Amino acid sequence: MARISQESIELIRNTADIVDVVSDYVQLQPSGKNFKGLCPFHSEKTPSFFVDKERGFFHCFGCGEKGNAISFVQKYKNTTFVEALKELADRYHIPLETDGEESYEDHFKRSYEINETANSFYQISLTNLEKGKKALEYIKGRGLDIHTIQYFEIGYAPDEFKGLFTQLKDNYEPVELIELGLLKKNEKDYHDLFRNRLMFPIRNEFGKTVGFSGRIIVDNPNEPKYVNSPQTKIFTKGKVLYNLDKALPFINREKRVVLFEGFLDVISAFNAGIKEGVCSMGTALTPDQANLLKKHTDHAVLCYDGDSAGFEATSKAIPILEEAGLRVSVVLLPDKLDPDEFVKKNSRAAFVNWINTKSLDPFEFEYNYLKASFDLTKPSQVEELKLRIFNYLLKSDSQMLLEIYVKKLSEDLKISYETIQSDLHHFQLTKAIKTSQNKRKEKIINVAIQNRAVVAERRILCYFIKAKEYREIINNLIGGMFTKDKDNLEILINAEDFIKSKVTENLKEKVINSFVESKRPSVSKRLNDENEPYSIEDLLQLIMTYKIHEVELEIAEINEQLAKLGEFAKREDTTPLVNKKVELNKKIREIRKDTPWKKTKS
Ligand code: GTP
Ligand code: MN
Repeated sequence: MARISQESIELIRNTADIVDVVSDYVQLQPSGKNFKGLCPFHSEKTPSFFVDKERGFFHCFGCGEKGNAISFVQKYKNTTFVEALKELADRYHIPLETDGEESYEDHFKRSYEINETANSFYQISLTNLEKGKKALEYIKGRGLDIHTIQYFEIGYAPDEFKGLFTQLKDNYEPVELIELGLLKKNEKDYHDLFRNRLMFPIRNEFGKTVGFSGRIIVDNPNEPKYVNSPQTKIFTKGKVLYNLDKALPFINREKRVVLFEGFLDVISAFNAGIKEGVCSMGTALTPDQANLLKKHTDHAVLCYDGDSAGFEATSKAIPILEEAGLRVSVVLLPDKLDPDEFVKKNSRAAFVNWINTKSLDPFEFEYNYLKASFDLTKPSQVEELKLRIFNYLLKSDSQMLLEIYVKKLSEDLKISYETIQSDLHHFQLTKAIKTSQNKRKEKIINVAIQNRAVVAERRILCYFIKAKEYREIINNLIGGMFTKDKDNLEILINAEDFIKSKVTENLKEKVINSFVESKRPSVSKRLNDENEPYSIEDLLQLIMTYKIHEVELEIAEINEQLAKLGEFAKREDTTPLVNKKVELNKKIREIRKDTPWKKTKS
């Protein structure tokens, strides 16, 4: 399909009434100049979803979703930009004009088609060709029958430098294959990226093949066990989950998703009858992946390998899943087994039974995990463990939980209940005092932070409009919808429409002109970047400031709540807040530490 013309998009944008469109799906009530209702993008009991009729956008203060009528339809219906345009064009009887150029969708379609062709080539090489015999033997030896191999579309990249290239070169340009990470060019010659590997196609949730992961068939310590497609325009490792597309109907039926560490675990579990399994590709679970899951279910079961790496990964995944709003259960496998090994050692039925009956809540897991990582014959380690568990416990505001674990701790450490109880109180108190000492100092700092953040946001917006290269960095590091200021937000939403429809030449001027005459001077002033430098280092610095500010805002809010509670507040009330603050400060340190802004400087 050709690209929809900018005129049509403008017409839709100006005609579609945001209140009218949103009202189809959300019950709105007037609230001052705006309308409000229960947010359709996260679950809530009191409305924090606001619609600004005049400016034509929505914004949820709960989950941060925002956009205009087009993006509302796109998000609500989980469709593409073009589909959303079509729906609104239908609704408002606007003819859709096209301007003949290739569209975004077409562009991706070709990439999917190439990957699909490669996928078929790999599959045939594994199951139908002599050269795939060794690989087929290997995978059958791992217990997969031909039906499973076909269901998961497993293939084999032959041990040839140009196996795939030869197959594809008549229909596709080398540069297209290079872009998708299937082909490499060294000196003057091309060669396949995946050679002599068992191939697992990675599909997105819509079933499109976006990348591949290839496993060696003869274990060799000098070679990586798996090689993944590099990041491409359709593949970002941290944004997809292996098998999610095929697991979706089962996730719906079972009302849960089960997370594994490896491909073979997903596949073994599938054969055993746990069909709602997915895995991330060898990296820690990301917030993007957690949010992706939250779109489809409320319950995630973590079933990682039963070794210390698996426990550690579990401990890291829990807060990420919880942060996305998922209820989490943890299944620990015995004897350092991974799910694949568990099935082989026991039976398929035993595995299903284990998953269904042995799950722990995150608190139980964390407690046991912490306990196991200290040597309880050493007093200093006992003390350390106690403090770690206190810290963890105080994150919950349940008094019952507190009591249960104080009791457990006293039994496990063989210290009296009263002693533990009093230690805990002391711990809370010390923390609270430290906080109130810091309170005054922080208030003064806040104003300065505020100013820096406002400047940073405006400058990031300028970068966003300036060039695609900067947009990609921004999208990757803070997401596309980063503005907190309402006027900046409106500018960003207008810019996004041009970007989505790929008309980005003189974007700044286009954005300014998309506003009514009377608003143009103020928009223009905001976007004025004469005399300002543009560099990636500078942008990264700004993003760091922005990210830190996000956390600092949360801290400021907590400080306010603490101030309200006053000096004689009850410990039960202050401790959760104090703990939250400790966490947030840690987060700031992490932002400073583990970020690209440092690397680019060295
Ligand atoms: P088997 O070893 O064949 O049982 O595969 P597995 O899927 O169980 O692998 P394992 O538990 O060792 O690792 C879990 C996941 O981490 C794999 O599925 C891969 O996605 C990823 N992974 C493992 N090794 C590597 C590696 O060397 N490189 C990369 N990029 N990823 C890896
Ligand atoms: Mn394994």
